[in-house]
Amino acid sequence: MNIRSKIVSLACLILIIGLSSCKKEKQSEIDNIGQNTKQKIYKGKPISKDFDSKIDSLIAEMTLEEKTGLLHGNSMFATKAVERLGIPELKMADGPLGVREELEKDSWAPLGLEDDYATYYPAGAGLSATWNPNLAYTFGNSVGEETRARGKDVLLSPAINIIRTPLGGRTYEYFTEDPFLNKKLAVPFVVGIQDNDVAACVKHFAANNQETHRDYVNVKIAERPLREIYLPAFEATVKEAHAYAMMGAYNKFRGEYLCENDFMLNQLLKEEWGFEGVVISDWAAVHSSVNSLKSGLDIEMGTPKDFDEYFLAQPLIDSAKAGKISETEIDKHVKRVLRVMYSVKSMGSGDRKEGSISTEAHFKDAYNIAAESVVLLKNDKNLLPLDASGIKSLAVIGNNATKKNALGGFGAGVKTKREITPLEGLKNRLPESVNIKFAQGYEERYSKTEKAKLGDVTLNGPVTIDELDPKLVEEAVEAAKNADAAIIFAGSNRDYETEASDRASLELPFGQEELIKKVLEANPNTIVVMIAGAPYEIDEISEKSSALVWSWFNGSEGGNALADVLLGDVNPSGKLPWTMPKKLEDSPAHATNSFPGDKTVSYDEGILVGYRWFDTKNIEPLYPFGYGLSYTDFAISEAKTNKKTFTDNDTIKLNLKVSNIGEFEGKEVIQVYASKPNSKVERADKELKAFKKIEVNTGESVSVDIELPIKELAYYKVSSKQWVVEPGTYQLKLGNSSRNIMSELEIQIQE
Ligand code: BGC
Repeated sequence: MNIRSKIVSLACLILIIGLSSCKKEKQSEIDNIGQNTKQKIYKGKPISKDFDSKIDSLIAEMTLEEKTGLLHGNSMFATKAVERLGIPELKMADGPLGVREELEKDSWAPLGLEDDYATYYPAGAGLSATWNPNLAYTFGNSVGEETRARGKDVLLSPAINIIRTPLGGRTYEYFTEDPFLNKKLAVPFVVGIQDNDVAACVKHFAANNQETHRDYVNVKIAERPLREIYLPAFEATVKEAHAYAMMGAYNKFRGEYLCENDFMLNQLLKEEWGFEGVVISDWAAVHSSVNSLKSGLDIEMGTPKDFDEYFLAQPLIDSAKAGKISETEIDKHVKRVLRVMYSVKSMGSGDRKEGSISTEAHFKDAYNIAAESVVLLKNDKNLLPLDASGIKSLAVIGNNATKKNALGGFGAGVKTKREITPLEGLKNRLPESVNIKFAQGYEERYSKTEKAKLGDVTLNGPVTIDELDPKLVEEAVEAAKNADAAIIFAGSNRDYETEASDRASLELPFGQEELIKKVLEANPNTIVVMIAGAPYEIDEISEKSSALVWSWFNGSEGGNALADVLLGDVNPSGKLPWTMPKKLEDSPAHATNSFPGDKTVSYDEGILVGYRWFDTKNIEPLYPFGYGLSYTDFAISEAKTNKKTFTDNDTIKLNLKVSNIGEFEGKEVIQVYASKPNSKVERADKELKAFKKIEVNTGESVSVDIELPIKELAYYKVSSKQWVVEPGTYQLKLGNSSRNIMSELEIQIQE
């Protein structure tokens, strides 16, 4: 470590200690498990019922018009206030990557203010690549503070739908293909937001796993995959984090729109799980008045049109007057809204948190997440970390070296004053002795006339122009040839990966594959860095390159974090949160030819989503779920369980030794997968059931404790509508990726 990095590290340490001590009080429950590793347990505060009698008397005083005003948007992002009774608007803001800028009251146009800049945080896939629940809390808490500073009550985040297809337009925004990783990140995220007197609105409930036909497609999922794959994270945000709001999705599920789906909203969410917050519709996802309300929707939000025409506005008033819905039913929903208002202290208490926005502390939070998210896919010739003292010239190639990704993507856009690009990050970090030559290499271009096609289904996503400009290629090749080393920043962007459309193919856009191959030929010391939120078909590039890095739409400090990884000030510790297939047809939704459907999409792969499919069907992925290298090597030894035989209510206590046997200090993610050989029911080859991220110094070993509650091994028994732990032998597979199992243990579960 050089002196500069030591000073930076010391400053960071002081900052981190300072920050963590001020944040400590906020966490609802903290527990330390294991040595050397702090695993915190995050539990949210249930919705407040302390003000119920006050709420009842307020409702008794309200007119029907005033009541319905609380149940629908009266501007793009707020409900109606009842000033005479001191009831404010419920103010909402997007979104998952940071607090969105202010928009006009009745259009999607930005107001163009000077005081609505925010921190741009790494997108969901980046956060989940950290495999670090403590960073999910940091993220939630940080963006929660920003939400408060902007005077909002509800943040429309996190977005946690399961990644079913690598083509999904919102793959970058969502977390993962795995339900366990999903819930372990979603819970602290929600707790972090809500620790700031802000409601998290978890979205999009549920089964919204594609953008194609999202306004009407009817999703069919069998009960087991629904319960085991698509719902666990939503359920955990309700039961453990006590999320105060849930967003109903656009599409249909089993024949009913999700904003008027009695099974999903009333029976499952509210009755079975005990959700006490509000169900807010996605924007313009409502199709009826009485039916929506009776089916469990509480608030209708929408796109620009006369707010009185919303289904839950004048039409609801008319229905009530015509006796089609009782005022008692309407009151139930109004009460929920008011409870949320009291819980986030927009009513009642005077001691509401004020928050802060765009601060250095928040940029540091964004940096910390980004730094742990970068995934090292390949480093065959140890080109990385790049030794800055050993080179005089560096070619930096590719449009993504200078591309900014904060804005765009509808609800996931952030207006920020800081977005460090990869090129800027390198300039900030490299010594002046290194001469940097930038060459754009490829252009980001889209066709204005062509439509995307996937099979015979026309999609509405952007169609890229994939021809390279020979002049730009020549410049790039020359730059690479004449430099000691080259880094090519390729991948995608948030205009191409976006809400409202899925990608039509897994191919890299804009002719990048050809360019990368040419640059690799021109200079063997070329490092390929992909910046994207979703998998791409990169098997040839992977084969031809010796150093391959995966980074994300990584927030305000993304470029600095990436440069620190490339130069070795940060040892990479990111792990893929999804499987990188060799080709699209290997992925379950495509292998079963069940994407995107037309009026209906049936999830034919059942429970075999993501790596569950690849492992069970013996299909070799390009890079497996949970995969990511480090500049050092780790060894696992002495793995044991506290006992060999367990019952339903037990918790398996695993202990193992993790040794850093390489030359860099670093972080590793110990992943625990479970298999049930000879099961009576269909099972995936293995499933993630526990994980822990730990830090180990060079030459040292640490003892790591990991807890695995037996109930995590249950499957959903459809006939009895119960979670059942099947008795018998289970194998626990410990490794640092789903395909690098380093130790196996066997346990028994008694009848
Ligand atoms: C998106 C939501 C977003 C909402 C408001 C919708 O199109 O699906 O995620 O929160 O718009 O911008």
